[in-house]
Amino acid sequence: MKILAIETSCDETAAAVVTDGVAESNVISSQIDVHRTTGGVVPEVAARLQLEVIQPVIDQALRDASTEMKDVDAIAVTAGPGLIGSLMVGLETAKALAYATGKPLIPVNHLAGHLYGALANLQEFTFPYLGLIVSGGHTELVLMDDHHSFTLLGETRDDAAGEAFDKVAKLMGLPYPGGPEISKLATQGNPDAITFPRAMLDQDTFDFSFSGLKTAARREIGEGSPDKARLADIAASFEAAVTDVLIQKTLRAAESYDPEAVLLGGGVAANQKLRNDLTASCETAGLALKISPPEYSTDNAAMIGIAASYAPPGLTGAAARKVTADPSADLAPAT
Ligand code: KG4
Ligand code: ZN
Repeated sequence: MKILAIETSCDETAAAVVTDGVAESNVISSQIDVHRTTGGVVPEVAARLQLEVIQPVIDQALRDASTEMKDVDAIAVTAGPGLIGSLMVGLETAKALAYATGKPLIPVNHLAGHLYGALANLQEFTFPYLGLIVSGGHTELVLMDDHHSFTLLGETRDDAAGEAFDKVAKLMGLPYPGGPEISKLATQGNPDAITFPRAMLDQDTFDFSFSGLKTAARREIGEGSPDKARLADIAASFEAAVTDVLIQKTLRAAESYDPEAVLLGGGVAANQKLRNDLTASCETAGLALKISPPEYSTDNAAMIGIAASYAPPGLTGAAARKVTADPSADLAPAT
């Protein structure tokens, strides 16, 4: 099945052609340069920019895959969660395309998409998987017991991991988005220089909390402007604290649920320290691990197309055309 996939949940406009679960093109137009000027995403601006580039991005994705619209079997689109204005651009475009061409529409949960980024290019699936989703808006541990069937085990009670990276970077005077900037700076620092809090590790829950860590980092940064070496130490120690908590909670959940493999997806999965440390920890624990490749970690449409390739039949067809954006559509517990 050949799927044209569209993803516009935040500040990336993305389209991909995915055939039988394998991406043949993956086009991403980023708004980072614009949002850098405001130090973060302004939702109205993001939606307007999505509208400007959505059609050229789709055209490019089709061209890159040497595909014409008539050869596409279905159209997949991110239905939520995300910024409502941004989501609507992708959704309305996808609905119009589906209506005009008579092709089925497949709505995809953005967070499910992030997990399918980790499942890219897989020939065989062996459930259950334990998924760690770490993005700018979400931090969740989920048990995936079948395609598109998830049980939420734990989530952040305040900031998402990526959000914490972005906020601390802003306090340090680093540009948006802060995650890659902090990890770059962290390579020059000492991760043991500052002992930042590891919240909720002593509690019997798979939930996370990162707001205390952000406050502790703010205190270390202080009012003045610390020198570069000190900032690098703060960045390295902060990154170590985030990855430490994420990994410890994941290993604990793996002990409780005995998954066939651990999945790591979402924008923060692009973080090299998290990738390295989780790989080492899973090896030690004898756990299989699948990490989304960096190009499928931050927002992209290939992961949405891959997820749609394994969507249950009920998700397609006329009923799906009525889908509307639901920004609160977290990966709800399976019932
Ligand atoms: O999944 P994503 O592209 O968008 C959302 O769904 O939110 O994630 C974006 C987040 C941002 O907070 C960004 O700072 C973070 O992922 N991020 C990183 C890295 N690359 C992106 N965080 C830490 N290290 C990175 N290398
Ligand atoms: Zn995302």
